[in-house]
Amino acid sequence: MASLRTEIGALALEKPGMVASGIMDETGPSMIRMIKEGAGAAVSKSIGCEPNEGHKNPCFSEVCGGLVNAMGLPNPGIELFEEEMRTASAHGKIIGSVYGAKPDEFAFLAGKMEDFGACAVELNLSCPHAKGYGMEIGTDPAIVKSIVSAVKSSVSIPVWAKLTPNTHILADIGRAVQDAGGDAVVAINTLKAMIISPEFARPVLSNKFGGLSGKAIKPVGVRAVYDLKSVLDIPIVGVGGIYGWRDAAEYIMAGASAFQVGSAVLSEGTGVFGKINEGLERFMDEYGYGSVKSMAGAAHE
Ligand SMILES: Cc1cc2nc3c(=O)[nH]c(=O)nc-3n(C[C@H](O)[C@H](O)[C@H](O)COP(=O)(O)O)c2cc1C
Repeated sequence: MASLRTEIGALALEKPGMVASGIMDETGPSMIRMIKEGAGAAVSKSIGCEPNEGHKNPCFSEVCGGLVNAMGLPNPGIELFEEEMRTASAHGKIIGSVYGAKPDEFAFLAGKMEDFGACAVELNLSCPHAKGYGMEIGTDPAIVKSIVSAVKSSVSIPVWAKLTPNTHILADIGRAVQDAGGDAVVAINTLKAMIISPEFARPVLSNKFGGLSGKAIKPVGVRAVYDLKSVLDIPIVGVGGIYGWRDAAEYIMAGASAFQVGSAVLSEGTGVFGKINEGLERFMDEYGYGSVKSMAGAAHE
């Protein structure tokens, strides 16, 4: 019988799927619920140093093949998030996602997440709709290196960097994470996108730009993971457009040790993890893959 257990460097998960940052992860009970539904871990909402209201409505719209959001990283700030993290991490593995503008902010937030019980920290270097944060800093290898180095020297839990697909130097960004001692990369965050209303002759979202997620971005994410696997030795976590076990298998075969699910939780419901686990296990049994590790990167051979 195939095992779904996987290892992302030093972090072992009983199931390879995690709920992605920003989806059903703003409270302790919602993160616990996702783990009970079959996720191996939950990634928290990205949390900053101070409370942030995010962008004004409309900040979310469905499009063909997915959705475009420009939430603007709304969150209560790290101090008010302590209780949610402690509640959730008492029941399962929680990866604390953080965002900031400078290395010392990331280091401070990561240290807090470690104190609150996170088993790893995920640095959001890739949000396409938060000015001064996210992809603006995550597309510069020197800045990425300085952030990852600062965080590595302030925590002892694994440090993951979440990368943007909105760059032509993804491999360089991945190398910067690895050179700075990062423990894993997570790919991908959303694709920078826009929707225009012909009637109003203006962008639909208040922020004008947002990020596309969902089914439409899966081939971009799979390609990103494949490219990263070709140049990196550190583990990769795949994310983007995973709705079923076939999508998860594609990411694993491209080189991912684990995967995250975001938009599908919103459209398919929380049962999506159970279905993916069941389908993946059946496929692995039928095709002779005893473990996630034996399947990871198979498309490169
Ligand atoms: C409503 C919404 C909120 C999100 N918030 C965050 C966030 O706070 N931090 C982050 O790193 N990614 C965030 N993301 C990006 C997801 O974690 C994920 O990388 C992306 O949606 C692609 O995966 P999917 O196609 O499975 O949704 C958000 C996505 C959505 C749809």
